[in-house]
Amino acid sequence: MKAIIKTGDGGPEVLQLGDAPTPQPTANQLLVDVHVTALNRADTIQRRGGYPPPPGESEILGLEIAGTVSDMGSAVTGWQEGDRVFGLIGGGGYAEQAVIDYRMAMRMPDGWSFEKAAAVPEVFFTANENIFTLGRLSAGETILIHAGGSGVGSAGVQIAHRAGAQVFVTAGTAAKTAGCEKLGATAGINYKNADFVAEIQRLTAGEGVDVVLDFIGAPYLARNLSILKTWGRLLQVGLIGGSTTEIDLGTVMRNRLKIIGSVMRPQTLTEKIGITRRFVERWLPELEAGTLQPVIDTVFPLAQAREAHAYMEANRNFGKILLKVRSETNAPR
Ligand SMILES: NC(=O)c1ccc[n+]([C@@H]2O[C@H](COP(=O)([O-])OP(=O)(O)OC[C@H]3O[C@@H](n4cnc5c(N)ncnc54)[C@H](OP(=O)(O)O)[C@@H]3O)[C@@H](O)[C@H]2O)c1
Repeated sequence: MKAIIKTGDGGPEVLQLGDAPTPQPTANQLLVDVHVTALNRADTIQRRGGYPPPPGESEILGLEIAGTVSDMGSAVTGWQEGDRVFGLIGGGGYAEQAVIDYRMAMRMPDGWSFEKAAAVPEVFFTANENIFTLGRLSAGETILIHAGGSGVGSAGVQIAHRAGAQVFVTAGTAAKTAGCEKLGATAGINYKNADFVAEIQRLTAGEGVDVVLDFIGAPYLARNLSILKTWGRLLQVGLIGGSTTEIDLGTVMRNRLKIIGSVMRPQTLTEKIGITRRFVERWLPELEAGTLQPVIDTVFPLAQAREAHAYMEANRNFGKILLKVRSETNAPR
């Protein structure tokens, strides 16, 4: 099969279209003809030599797919060849075929395009697990979501707003803060020309927020803690700005704060099945009803994975960047 091969660790130039063996489904797996896959920031880290695939997972990049079932293992139930499927995988998405455990596979709603389905799993799972399962955000509370225009941010803004929370975001352009406001954010702060701590204090009349969802890491840690209310929760989900810093733990103790970190990829299959199920129960019906929408920025052909990575690393996207693997589509976006 055709796949994007990584010729070494480095910049986007290490990605090239090549040939790889078709994966063989194990007893519990579906083999999927991938129509569309999507980029995640983690792919750029793996490309550079970090974030290795967990044991047993494909070395090929790509953490989510939408496509059709073409074969399956002996223990699979409830799926047939030709079914339209989407979901999170441990790796292998940038390819014509990929495997997914059938207990993590989600049936594509009628009328959905493969583009729409491929834009959903990683960002909605990450946002839901962090904001609600770990962060316990509830109606009437406040949340600051950094990088609100990221894939995860664009999902997080919507679901936090739908849950009745007041949402603030930071982003690096006026277009991104305005885009977040359209998705339900009360206010967007352009971190390039305003201090987000002062802005949050102003917007909340000095109260601060209940929850911060952060991808930036070290340079933001002390400032994030400084704007949390008593019993506030900091969800550390990315480290784009670095991982090492010093903080005053007195703030954490005095204000009874929680700092919660998580990474999805190394979690066990059982944990990931739970992550899938919680998303399906709470948010898939809203996506089907159209009250939530995955935000799609750009669709590149698979052969242009290199260009797609460069585009992501230039921080140009608002929402998801997709890679189209097959040319057929059978429904509008
Ligand atoms: N822990 C997990 O399980 C998990 C799962 C999925 C994703 N993640 C993490 O979530 C984050 C978002 O992922 P994604 O795929 O949605 O990303 P993405 O679409 O590539 O968006 C990332 C955005 O971050 C902003 N940014 C980049 N460098 C920055 C900096 N130094 N300071 C402030 N903002 C900066 C940029 O927007 P601006 O124009 O606003 O600067 C950029 O567009 C990543 O850190 C990723 O690793 C974690």
